[in-house]
Amino acid sequence: MNLEKAAEYIRNGKLVAFPTETVYGLGANALDPFAVSKIFELKERPAFDPLIVHIESIESAEQLADTKNNKFHRLAEKFWPGPLTIVLPKKKIIPDIVTSGLDTVGLRMPNHKIALELIKLSGCPIAAPSANKFGRVSPTSAQHVKKYFPQIDCIIDGGKTQVGIESTVIYLYEDSFEILRPGIITSEEIETEVSLKPINKKRKISAPGMMKSHYSPAKPIYILNETLLRKIDFNKAGLLSFTKKYDKFFKKVITLSESMDLKECAVNLFSAIHLLEDSDVEIIIAEPVPETGIGIAIMDRLKKAAYKTMKSIN
Ligand code: TXA
Ligand code: MG
Repeated sequence: MNLEKAAEYIRNGKLVAFPTETVYGLGANALDPFAVSKIFELKERPAFDPLIVHIESIESAEQLADTKNNKFHRLAEKFWPGPLTIVLPKKKIIPDIVTSGLDTVGLRMPNHKIALELIKLSGCPIAAPSANKFGRVSPTSAQHVKKYFPQIDCIIDGGKTQVGIESTVIYLYEDSFEILRPGIITSEEIETEVSLKPINKKRKISAPGMMKSHYSPAKPIYILNETLLRKIDFNKAGLLSFTKKYDKFFKKVITLSESMDLKECAVNLFSAIHLLEDSDVEIIIAEPVPETGIGIAIMDRLKKAAYKTMKSIN
């Protein structure tokens, strides 16, 4: 679908699935509560899980949220457009349904030509969660979106996404920040680029929507460990491979990165899970990656995807 037409959809209160650099979003006019309610309905998303509002200019951020914290401007300058969502005190103009009644809103300027153009042409900010059924793996291609929502007639196909996992979500305090969802922009990067410290106390603010179980494919997924190695029927299992050490045992293998590059692993993670989900394997096994830098975001997704299945074997 062309962008003019898609923008008309947004203006008319309809939903549009569109690509961003991270994953595909399911968007609606963020200022229209009825349009936003359609997102929750279609995704079967619980009303307590707030949406991210996508914008294309700093002026728009200023209209939607309290941006007086000068660290916000430093962060936006450094990382926007890009895979960083900044949670700020919201202004009244944002309907409560968008933020699940919270007094804060997550804002993000995506680094994607189509997404930015769509927001511009629509003339309004676009509220968009990842375009998957609630709790399932995020889509990194238009085909993935169609798999979840064959009924939506407006999907903009921008090919495979470049980052592959969702944006880093941060909560901004006066002179510190807290990562609510890890992503490819890491805590270290935020610390060095903007002189902000991560808070080292236990989580202070409520982060609804950060469930222990999430990103789950339609087939059981496990994180590889010694116990599992003894229990698995390898003939039925597909592997998300990192080190290649176990490849020879498995029915199907998808290598996340030939050079064990964590950024490349993140790019390929969800599409690899989708591939195994749609293949003839019965279970999916993921090799763990080192939990540093971007590896933190990858393991966050894997642990949530495998939360229920891993509990069942322990
Ligand atoms: O990369 C992304 O962020 C993608 C693309 C489409 O932009 N979007 C995305 O949205 O991942 P979603 O809805 O799947 O995840 C948004 C999460 C919520 O589940 C919630 O945990 C957090 O962001 N969030 C949003 N607004 C918040 C707020 N005001 N306070 C705390 N957490 C918030
Ligand atoms: Mg999501």
